[in-house]
Amino acid sequence: MPSIKINGTSTIQSNPSNTILETMEKAGIEPEYNCRDGHCGACRCKLISGEVEYVGFAMAYTQADEILPCISKAKSDVQLEDVNYAIKEKRA
Ligand code: FES
Repeated sequence: MPSIKINGTSTIQSNPSNTILETMEKAGIEPEYNCRDGHCGACRCKLISGEVEYVGFAMAYTQADEILPCISKAKSDVQLEDVNYAIKEKRA
């Protein structure tokens, strides 16, 4: 499974049946999102290396080096930057 490196710090394993946004959530990361459908651009981040596959139609504006994790899956090891996220607080 391809790995997803986020902001140069955390690395998680991609899950082929989930989008990158869902994969991050399953790994305990809470990325910013709103529509989860490629419309709002809230999840927008930079793709530094690797390839992603869009599984939805990107309506939100993105620069050439940006992707929308809510509608994309990792095709190879990918490196993402400028991901706005919080780490889920672990509760006892
Ligand atoms: S959450 Fe709206 S474009 Fe990704």
